[in-house]
Amino acid sequence: MKELFNEYVQSLETYIMIQIKMETARLTPELTAKNRAPISLSMGAPVERPPQLVTDKIMEYANTEGMHTYTLVKGENYLLEAIAVNMKKRTGIDFDSKSEICALIGSKEGIANLIRALINPKFDIKDRDIILIPDPGYASYKEMVKVSGGFGYGIPLTKENNYMPDLEEALNNLEKDGYDKKKVKALVINYPNNPLGAICTKEYLQKTVEFCKKHNILLISDAAYIDLTFEGAPKSHSVFEIEGAKDVAVEFYSFSKPYSMTGWRIGWVCGNKEAVGILGKLKSTIDTGIYKPIQKAASEILNSKEGDEYIKEANKRFERKQKIVTDGFKELGWPMDKINPPKATFYLWLPIPPKYKSAKEFTDDVMKTSGVVMVPGNAFGNNGEGWFRMSIVASEEQMKEVIKRLKEDGFYFE
Ligand SMILES: Cc1ncc(COP(=O)(O)O)c(C=O)c1O
Repeated sequence: MKELFNEYVQSLETYIMIQIKMETARLTPELTAKNRAPISLSMGAPVERPPQLVTDKIMEYANTEGMHTYTLVKGENYLLEAIAVNMKKRTGIDFDSKSEICALIGSKEGIANLIRALINPKFDIKDRDIILIPDPGYASYKEMVKVSGGFGYGIPLTKENNYMPDLEEALNNLEKDGYDKKKVKALVINYPNNPLGAICTKEYLQKTVEFCKKHNILLISDAAYIDLTFEGAPKSHSVFEIEGAKDVAVEFYSFSKPYSMTGWRIGWVCGNKEAVGILGKLKSTIDTGIYKPIQKAASEILNSKEGDEYIKEANKRFERKQKIVTDGFKELGWPMDKINPPKATFYLWLPIPPKYKSAKEFTDDVMKTSGVVMVPGNAFGNNGEGWFRMSIVASEEQMKEVIKRLKEDGFYFE
């Protein structure tokens, strides 16, 4: 049977977070027996319940006549209009709810389908269309490009470039590595970044828009974490705060992270008309929209006081939990003074102790010994080797328990 499936799919790995989930399930009985029941800090899925308003509205609409039917693929009008209001608040500019916004079954679905729409699939790596992606970056980007028959070329985000790489230099490096820069179709940026929590300046966004215009490539801004910024920290910007960005850019948003709605699968893309239109057309052949009660609830939380308050509280919680963990790692000998924990997202990106040869060796050891589930840094790109990512998404008690276990089990920075 296997040979019947296309070669792109055959070259795919199961998504790293699912691999980790399966391994966690396999180890659960053994870990539980030794008082180390798994604490999952791998996926970016906060444990807290979504806002009460969202739950109430889903319940209410689930019981309302006519809510069970197919929905408009691009999103019901009330949702698209609420998104237009939200984007106007963020950027000061108008978005046409019919042509410049499309609802998504989570931003992952939208990014993957847009990438699919851009690439002419080729098997030989040097013939492939290229999507520039951040390295380290969201683990799915590379695989989404690969399964579409393209090549995801990682642009290093480093402390030296302040996580805002020189894009012309990246293009030159691409050529030096033997790839054709004319094959570049799009650039993906993601600020605040998963896994680093790094943010970028408005000036950098301005340069990025200019770069994409100059080279005629689509700018894909993944803003999944844009609202997750700690109090007093510099705010993250939408690419549409830059004049003329709609000519080259689309931006992806998610309800998953700010409202803990990861399982309810809803997000949106907005911006360039052609890109949004093509994505909508592609989606019309492969999906049939989002369950109406979820669209209703999402549209009601979006510009509400309750929603804004929820995000504010969530950010305070993430900051508190980050402090518990960073204090703990300091006690365990990690060089926290040099690390500068991020002031955005709910991720913590730390070096592995020197005695380990690889990130995977370390995260496997911690999982098998202490039941603490984290992700090896190389899952996010070649630049992630030697690091690991911890999602600070469990409860405060569990975060304290993590540090306690690491101490008891001797995971010191040595
Ligand atoms: C950077 C980034 N973008 C997009 C997503 C996908 O989010 P969703 O599909 O739940 O909207 C994630 C999820 O972890 C992410 O980290």
